[in-house]
Amino acid sequence: MITSVLPTYNRAPLTFVKGEGAWLIEADGRRFLDLGAGIAVNALGHAHPALTAALTEQAGALWHTSNLYHIPQQQALADKLVDATFADTVFFTNSGTEACELAVKMARKYWYDKAHPEKVDIITFSGSFHGRSSAGIAAAGSEKMTKGFGPLLPGFTHLTFGDHDAIASAITDETAAILIEPVQGEGGIIPVPDQCLKGLRDLCDEKGILLILDEVQCGVGRTGKLFAHEWAGIEPDIMMVAKGIGGGFPLGAVLATEEAASGMTAGTHGSTYGGNPLGCAVACAVLDIVSDPAFLDDVNRKAGLLRQKLEGLIAAHPDVFEKVRGSGLMMGIKCKAACGDVVSAGYAHNVITVPAADNTIRLLPPLNITDEEIGEAITRLDAAAQAVAA
Ligand SMILES: Cc1ncc(COP(=O)(O)O)c(C=O)c1O
Repeated sequence: MITSVLPTYNRAPLTFVKGEGAWLIEADGRRFLDLGAGIAVNALGHAHPALTAALTEQAGALWHTSNLYHIPQQQALADKLVDATFADTVFFTNSGTEACELAVKMARKYWYDKAHPEKVDIITFSGSFHGRSSAGIAAAGSEKMTKGFGPLLPGFTHLTFGDHDAIASAITDETAAILIEPVQGEGGIIPVPDQCLKGLRDLCDEKGILLILDEVQCGVGRTGKLFAHEWAGIEPDIMMVAKGIGGGFPLGAVLATEEAASGMTAGTHGSTYGGNPLGCAVACAVLDIVSDPAFLDDVNRKAGLLRQKLEGLIAAHPDVFEKVRGSGLMMGIKCKAACGDVVSAGYAHNVITVPAADNTIRLLPPLNITDEEIGEAITRLDAAAQAVAA
């Protein structure tokens, strides 16, 4: 008999009932060190006092009005994002997937309004992940995500990353945009080198097409810059954001330049909940903390510490681990043992990691994890690796 919750997830045998900073407490009282942060969502850990205060204060005042009216918290959040980034304008969604939907629509509408309705094609890359909607799965294109869900949304060209010339020659008169994650998350924590992102920006400029960055997983301080593309010194035309921006409250956003957003006039897009007062009040609190340069400096310092300790861990367990890769506090360990076994051994030693493609485990801890907790994480991962090796 089918379960009352649609059985689309392979859930671990864990039920968390409380969270405190980087810790999750299981129903049976066990305390787990959370290096997954809800898949890069709880950017400031669990029950952060500033976020709890923002949410409860807003909850006592007003939950929802719809986008038929002005929403001060949404306006404040849009202003903060515009001040802090390349963007001139922001649309709020409930999730990363919906941000992908709008990014695709925005790019196509841009060209339609420029009298180029033939420019609908979007170039994407193998191993990418952009969500589970029709546009999201068509953008990623992998069999794993698309099989059985046809007919797929047309207009996506899938390339293997790394061959700049192949990308250049794949751009046709029908190409509207290139869409890429600066650091692939689900694909196994695979950073795009800075010079490649620069190359893509140059290519888009040269061919006159739009560059869309998916920073749903790698954005909001995760790599040690507010947004990952800043490391490469480039700016996109359109950017998808979600996960960390809401610190655990479901919220996404599409940020864009005035030019790229020019087709999105009144009536062309909408969302009942997107940008609602609760989510935006929390996100303002998240952004105030995460965009502080001193906070980001500390993320970078801790990223260095974590990476150094991970190198030692990998050297100590050459049969279990192969190598570490990533950026900031978005780390992946490519495993030699089955990554699912490593994640399960972590559960047995009260540490949470997240599996990804390419036999990789992801470490996406809260950005405010402490040095002591990083040390504790290594101790627990070491015990997990010993168990896997045994
Ligand atoms: C890079 C990227 N884009 C889009 C999405 C989809 O976001 P959501 O699950 O919030 O719809 C994800 C989710 O993992 C993601 O990692």
